[in-house]
Amino acid sequence: MAARLGCVVQVLLLLGPAARGPAPARAAKMKVVEEPNTFGLNNPFLPQTSRLQPKREPSPVSGPAHLFRLSGKCFSLVESTYKYEFCPFHNVTQHEQTFRWNAYSGILGIWHEWEIINNTFAGMWMSDGDSCRSRSRQSKPLLRFCQVELTCGKSNQLAHVSEPSTCVYALTFETPLVCHPHSLLVYPTLPEVLQQRWDQVEQDLADELITPQGYEKLLRALFEDAGYLRAPGESHLTQHDGGSKSLGFETLESCRKAHVELSDEVQRLTSLLDQHGIPHAQPTENPHAKHLGQQPPIGVTSEQLRGDPGLRGNSL
Ligand SMILES: *[C@@H]1O[C@H](CO)[C@@H](O)[C@H](O)[C@H]1NC(C)=O
Ligand SMILES: *[C@@H]1O[C@H](CO)[C@@H](O)[C@H](O)[C@H]1NC(C)=O
Repeated sequence: MAARLGCVVQVLLLLGPAARGPAPARAAKMKVVEEPNTFGLNNPFLPQTSRLQPKREPSPVSGPAHLFRLSGKCFSLVESTYKYEFCPFHNVTQHEQTFRWNAYSGILGIWHEWEIINNTFAGMWMSDGDSCRSRSRQSKPLLRFCQVELTCGKSNQLAHVSEPSTCVYALTFETPLVCHPHSLLVYPTLPEVLQQRWDQVEQDLADELITPQGYEKLLRALFEDAGYLRAPGESHLTQHDGGSKSLGFETLESCRKAHVELSDEVQRLTSLLDQHGIPHAQPTENPHAKHLGQQPPIGVTSEQLRGDPGLRGNSL
């Protein structure tokens, strides 16, 4: 649920003041583009097909292997005067169904990444479509983008298209390929090494070595490594990156974890030495090593006292 809300918030951020108000996403009735698109690449003197100039390459095909067969195929739906075409792992386009000489044809999105909710492939994000006339002149032009939801159906078909906010499209694609309850689970699609990493993240969460936020970030990084999500900035056009991703927290998490592990190891080795009666000196650089967490080490700055266990102060 939180992830779903996150998407809505990101969309609102993107649209800025133009799109405030309740966002009953799927319920909203389709608003078709009222005016012929006379800007950008829609040059009426070019034949219609060559007016479609993708802004970038689609991302590589990824996700559940049984869906790869959809790559290279296209599915269309005619709704009012528009024909929508969804080419999984490639693009979404819109074509005005008219014999007018300047009929609109445009790219609504290019395959970007999976939407993963609750560790399940919930939909496909298609971003970096044709630019959209923005209501407020100051802001950067918004590029059209789509969310494609995959639902179980008797045959492969583009079942529904709506425009929940201006230039943001929601598509529903029906396919028998997602009818099995496990067909969209993320975990089974991962290579073993990433499954093990995920197991460790779950364990760390259970052991309270990481916070729920740290857990979300580690999983996000894992999905990026799997190629299911794109790292922010990986594409030269990062449309729905809200700019809120910070690596600092993640670093602190891993830092804490490393610290706990190293402290345990020091303890284990110390008791091993004691057990065998081998004399040993306390670590000289940090006489408080055993008390970290309860008592700050001597000589740390006030910044370090704010939640930082003080690892910077010693040579670990
Ligand atoms: C997430 O999945 C779990 C187990 O499959 C389920 O119990 C839970 O209700 C789901 N949560 C959401 C928000 O879908
Ligand atoms: C959209 O994807 C299809 C299928 O892969 C491809 O044939 C077509 O050229 C693409 N259209 C654009 C405008 O990129």
